[in-house]
Amino acid sequence: MASGWVPEGLSEAEVADGEAYHRALYLDGDLERPAGWHRDSVDRLIQLAIPHISEGSTIVDYGSGTGGSAIELLKALDESGIGVELILIDPLPSWFGKAREILEDREEVHLELSVGRDENGRMKFRKLGEILSGRKADVIISSSTLHLIPERAISGLAMEFHGSLRQGGVFVWDSGDIECDFRPEDSARLHDPYRAVREILREDGDRLGLLAKMGGDGALKEEQRLDRIFPEPFSLDVIIGALEEAGFEGEVSDKVVDFSKEDAQRFVQVPRLAEIAAPLLEGEARDSAIRKALEKALTDMEEGGFADEHHYRSHWVYGRHIA
Ligand SMILES: C[S@@+](CC[C@H](N)C(=O)[O-])C[C@H]1O[C@@H](n2cnc3c(N)ncnc32)[C@H](O)[C@@H]1O
Repeated sequence: MASGWVPEGLSEAEVADGEAYHRALYLDGDLERPAGWHRDSVDRLIQLAIPHISEGSTIVDYGSGTGGSAIELLKALDESGIGVELILIDPLPSWFGKAREILEDREEVHLELSVGRDENGRMKFRKLGEILSGRKADVIISSSTLHLIPERAISGLAMEFHGSLRQGGVFVWDSGDIECDFRPEDSARLHDPYRAVREILREDGDRLGLLAKMGGDGALKEEQRLDRIFPEPFSLDVIIGALEEAGFEGEVSDKVVDFSKEDAQRFVQVPRLAEIAAPLLEGEARDSAIRKALEKALTDMEEGGFADEHHYRSHWVYGRHIA
C-alpha cells in the first residue's frame, strides 16, 4: 500500500477533475493506452533518468499530478526489475487524489502534498528539504511542471533541488512550454492553442456579460486568475541560469511531439483547464464555446504552419543536470 498523503473530503467535482486529467493522459483511463503526446513526450525524460537509477534509489517526482510521469517511470523500472522508493509531490488535491487511487497498491510510492498553511492560515508551498525531512534523493524528476511555476520562484526551487540531492545525484526535467531560440519554425509551444482559446473567449459576449455582473474588482481578479491557468512562457535561460547558480552541471536536448486534435480537445476540456472559459458555467454551452474556439485556434495553427490536419507540433525541451 502507498504511504503518505491521503485525499480527504474531495468534492464530486474534484474527483471528476482528477479523472478527466487522467483520461487526457490515458485513453479511457487505460494505463496501457497512453495518449500519443503523453507517451512520446515523457519517454525521453524516463530514458534520461533510468541510467541514474539503481536498486534502492530514492526518487522524487516533483509535480506528479494524476501520476502520468510516475506511472511511466514505474513501468520502465518494473521491466528492468529495479525496486526504488518513489516520492510523489504535488499541490493540487483533485489531480493528486487520482494519483493516490491509481498507485494505491504500490508499496514503494509515498505521496506528499506540497502546500500547507502558515500561522495566519495563508496557503504556502512547503520546502522540499522539509518534505524530505533532510533525506537526500538520488534522482529528482519533474515532468511538464516547471513552466507552471512562477518565474520568480525558479531560482529558489533550483536551490531546493540541489540541496535535496546527494552529491552526484541528478535532476531530470521536461517542458513543452518554454521559450527558447532553437524551437523549429514549424512547431509551437505546448500551450499555444489553449492560450489562443483564452484570447478568443476573452471577447465572448456571454462571458463578458457574466464578468460585468461581478463588478470591477471581482472581474479583474477573475481575469487574472484565468490568465494564470496557461501562463505566458518564460525563457529556458531562466531555468538554466537558476540551475547553474544552484551548482548543477548539465545539458539540454529537445524533441517535437505530435499532439492530436482529439487529444487537444480532451485536454482543454479537463474542468480545471476549461476554467479559462469562466465565468461561463460548466455545461454544454461552455463546452461548445471551448470546442469551437479550439477548432479555430488549431485551424489558425495549420494555416501558420504549426499543425497539419490531424496534429499540432509541440516542442519539448529536456534537461539532465548533475548536482
Ligand atoms: C501538467 S501536470 C504534470 C503531471 C505529471 N508530472 C505528468 O507528467 O503527467 C503539472 C503539475 O504541476 C503542479 N503544479 C502547478 N503549479 C505548481 C507549482 N507552482 N509548484 C509545484 N507544482 C505545481 C500541478 O498541480 C500539476 O499537477
